[in-house]
Amino acid sequence: MSTSAPLTVLLTGASTGIGRVSALHLARKGYRVLATVRRDKDAASLRAEAVPGLEPVIVDVDKAEDIERIGQQIDAEPGGLYALINNAGFNYNAPFEQTVEARARAMMETNFFGLYRLSQRLIPALRRGAEQAGQPSKLVNVSSIGGSIGLPWESFYHASKFAVLGLSESLRNELYAQNIRVVVVQPGGIQTDFMPKTEASLQTALAEMTPEGRSRYAKPLETMLGLTASAAKYGTPPVAVAKAFERILGRRNPGFRTWVGLDARILHALHAVLPYWLMHAMLRRLSGA
Ligand SMILES: NC(=O)c1ccc[n+]([C@@H]2O[C@H](COP(=O)([O-])OP(=O)(O)OC[C@H]3O[C@@H](n4cnc5c(N)ncnc54)[C@H](OP(=O)(O)O)[C@@H]3O)[C@@H](O)[C@H]2O)c1
Repeated sequence: MSTSAPLTVLLTGASTGIGRVSALHLARKGYRVLATVRRDKDAASLRAEAVPGLEPVIVDVDKAEDIERIGQQIDAEPGGLYALINNAGFNYNAPFEQTVEARARAMMETNFFGLYRLSQRLIPALRRGAEQAGQPSKLVNVSSIGGSIGLPWESFYHASKFAVLGLSESLRNELYAQNIRVVVVQPGGIQTDFMPKTEASLQTALAEMTPEGRSRYAKPLETMLGLTASAAKYGTPPVAVAKAFERILGRRNPGFRTWVGLDARILHALHAVLPYWLMHAMLRRLSGA
């Protein structure tokens, strides 16, 4: 970073995983990081790290009042916002036929509509941030490799991440001339609480299934549980995503998409070169479909 006043970054979902590691990393690199969490104990835990420039704030992206509160706080600051990193999100897995609508809607609410609401509220602050920084500000949306390749048993999670990619592509073109660069990060398997939470969500899906559904889908979900366990074991450390954020924020004009992790890069490359039928036959075999 070259400016004298620290540039402000708002990063959502900083209680654990990618968000927490990235908040600490970016603050140590000299950014002022407004790190959003949902509970006081998570704010206290971040404060206990005593990293200058790291400021926890309470925001649940599902709550309009929380978004308005942080919007007003940033409106009152002269420097605006240099970057917004929409990282908050979670995973709900179930065979499509056995999907519980309320759970699917709750996930879309956070992964997609939360990102929409917060981004929309903060666009004026990002415009001011670009002026202040003398270069384009950055709106970084965390999708997933599952935002461009659909695996079975995760249809709604993938739908939420495909939606993030589609929205971001349109928005990049809308905001380009306003000096705001929209960027998408597509991680592969990252070693965070996400994998144990995915495991728990698969167990819930199994428990919630009808007996007929269980007889049809229990076996492939066991295969998915195995894949999740491998991703937890061999996944990429979350600091790799933090460093990708750092690179994006450090560039004047970052490219639209960034893949993080060898698995994400390999899957993306295979997806680009293999015939569709072959790629997806391999994925079906891998995921027990
Ligand atoms: N780990 C992976 O393999 C992987 C791969 C691809 C993409 N991603 C994406 O990366 C992002 C971060 O995931 P992670 O791996 O770091 O998982 P994580 O450790 O479970 O972190 C998820 C974060 O999102 C927050 N969050 C959930 N719902 C929220 C809401 N309504 N409002 C505000 N914050 C909310 C959580 O806060 P609470 O603690 O309060 O719930 C937590 O801080 C997610 O968008 C995920 O989809 C992860």
